[in-house]
Formats: sequence, C-alpha cells, structure tokens
Amino acid sequence: MLQPIRFRNVIILLVGVCIFTISVFLFRYKQSLVTLQPQSAGNSTLGFQRIEVINLPHRYDREDAILMQSVASDIEYEIFPGVYAKDLQESGLPPVSKAMEDEGPKACLRAHANIWRLMLKEKWSSALILEADAAWDVEIRAIMQRVSYALNDLMDTHPLSTSETLATEKDPYNLAKWDIISLGHCHENNQNSDHYQIFSDPDSPVGKKYKEILLNDERVVRESGGPVCTTAYAISPTGALKLLLRTAIDFNRPVDLLIMDMVGDGTLISYSIHPPPFAQWKYEQHIGAENRNSDIQSSNANQDDKSDDAWKKVHQSMNVWRLGDNYLDSSFRHSAFGALKQMAFGG
Ligand SMILES: *[C@@H]1O[C@H](CO)[C@@H](O)[C@H](O)[C@H]1NC(C)=O
Repeated sequence: MLQPIRFRNVIILLVGVCIFTISVFLFRYKQSLVTLQPQSAGNSTLGFQRIEVINLPHRYDREDAILMQSVASDIEYEIFPGVYAKDLQESGLPPVSKAMEDEGPKACLRAHANIWRLMLKEKWSSALILEADAAWDVEIRAIMQRVSYALNDLMDTHPLSTSETLATEKDPYNLAKWDIISLGHCHENNQNSDHYQIFSDPDSPVGKKYKEILLNDERVVRESGGPVCTTAYAISPTGALKLLLRTAIDFNRPVDLLIMDMVGDGTLISYSIHPPPFAQWKYEQHIGAENRNSDIQSSNANQDDKSDDAWKKVHQSMNVWRLGDNYLDSSFRHSAFGALKQMAFGG
C-alpha cells in the first residue's frame, strides 16, 4: 500500500524541482535580456548628449518653469537664446521663394537653425531640443527609457535606414537610424501611421487612443507622417545637416512646417511618440495672462478677464499652468508642474 504513494511523491517532487529550475532559469535569462538593453535613455539628459532649451532672454517666467520642472524630474539642460524678430535683417537671411508673412516664425526658425549649426560645429552626437514653454510628466526619465526600447524594436521590425548599428549605452536610441524623433508635436499626419508599435508605459495618460485602439497604460511609437509643432524633438547630426541645408537654400517656411514637408516627402527620417511625452504649456485662463501665452502671435492676442475664482484656484493649487489648446492628444498622468506644490511645501 505504501509503495505506490511514495513513488508518486517522488515523481511529484521531481516534477516540482524541474519546474522550479526552469522558472529560475527563465527568470534569470529574462533579466539578462532586460539588462542588455541600454539604460542611459533614463539618465538626466534623457540619453541625449545634451538638452537645449530655446528661450527668448526676456522670458524669465519660462526659464523658471523649465527649471522647476527639471528639479521635479531631475533633468539637466542648457539654455539657448532665442532670436528676436527685430534683430533679423533680410540681408542676413537666405533668399526666399515666397516670404513668410509674419516675423515671429522667421525668428523661431532662425533660433532652431542656430542650434543645428552649433550642433554640427561642436560635433554633438545628439540633442533634445525643447522650446521654453515645454511641459512634461514628472516621470519623464522612466518614460524615455521605455521609448528607447520601443523605438529600437520598431526600427528592427520596420527599418527605414540601412544602418546595421545596434543601440548601446552610449547610443541608446541608435542615432544612425533616424534624423529626428518628434516628442512634443501638436499634430501628426496619417501617412505611415500603419508602421507602429504599442509599448507598455504605466506613466501614460489614461483614456488615449491610437487609431481607435484604446491605450491601457501604453504608448505608441510610430513612423512619422509629418509632425506639426516643435515643442520637443530629438535630433541627430544627419538631421541637423539636412535641416540646416534646407533652411539655407530657401527661408520660406516656419520650422515645424518645413520639418513636416521633409518628413512627408521622405527626405527626413522621423519617428514620433503618442501620446507625446512633451506638450506646450499656457497660463491658466481668466487670470489676465492670455497675452503672455505666445511670442509668435502676440499681435492678435486676446486680453482676457480676471476672475477671483480663477486666481483663488491658482493660489490653492500653486499651479498656474495648463496645456496648450492645440495639444489635444497630450495630457500627463502626473505633470511635473502638478508635483511642485508638494515638493516645495510637503503635505
Ligand atoms: C546620458 O546618456 C547619453 C548617452 O549615453 C550621454 O551622451 C550623456 O552624456 C548622458 N548624460 C549624462 C548627464 O551623463
């Protein structure tokens, strides 16, 4: 009677040991796969050689906002001076096939072109370029690390470049394979939108969709079709040269439309992230600050009213910033601005 039961116990024990050994092995193996992925995209410059923030020198408020969000997210950056329209002279700019109507976009393009030029002159391997009214999620370092993994996967499954390079700790985004990565657009064209990859991101905003697919703690990395707005984009040296050359031959397009055109016709290799991890901020409504919200359209800025309630809310939340109206796809699960009150005052 005892014999078969013991035998069965031995078998069960053996099977148990086997399952345990296999699990330990798989777990180790999976961990080694994870640690093989470069970690540097989560560093304080988000895996780029540097972060450059374009700010018009009189915008002390925007520089403060960048600094405080950077403290919240532990990010390091350099300030790059923007260009004033009044300092531009036609004789110092490239020829134009058709002139841009407003002065603001000319100055903005020139500021971006100044960074592309410096990048090439000083041989930066990569840069993340932010406009000074950029806002982001406080977890941006973790988010960008996930972005780098997903981008590398997508570049393997849908290569746009013939480069055989691999991502490394020094080059976590595999720079040879793209010109720009759009991280803070207000719109993306539909072209190429079938080449995408969904990736897990527990810091992604809730309730967003991609092509009718509900994103549950997920974001999407996709091939760009033509991004609009340049609040945040990463650039490689090849991207900088293409854009500087394009600017030098004809100074006729605002910077974001110039990028959109070149991505659209396939001359600029670009990827983009949805929902974008960066967006433009504006001052809250009804606090009389509408005219501070844009440098480019300052001529037709509408003065808004001041309401006591709006001001009360600002003081209570210690938060005077909201997302720009054009950035409908963006929102943050935990905005860096929203983290500031607790960080500064606790409680
Ligand atoms: C972050 O990683 C990138 C890529 O390795 C590197 O170029 C950059 O210097 C790093 N940033 C810091 C602050 O170490």
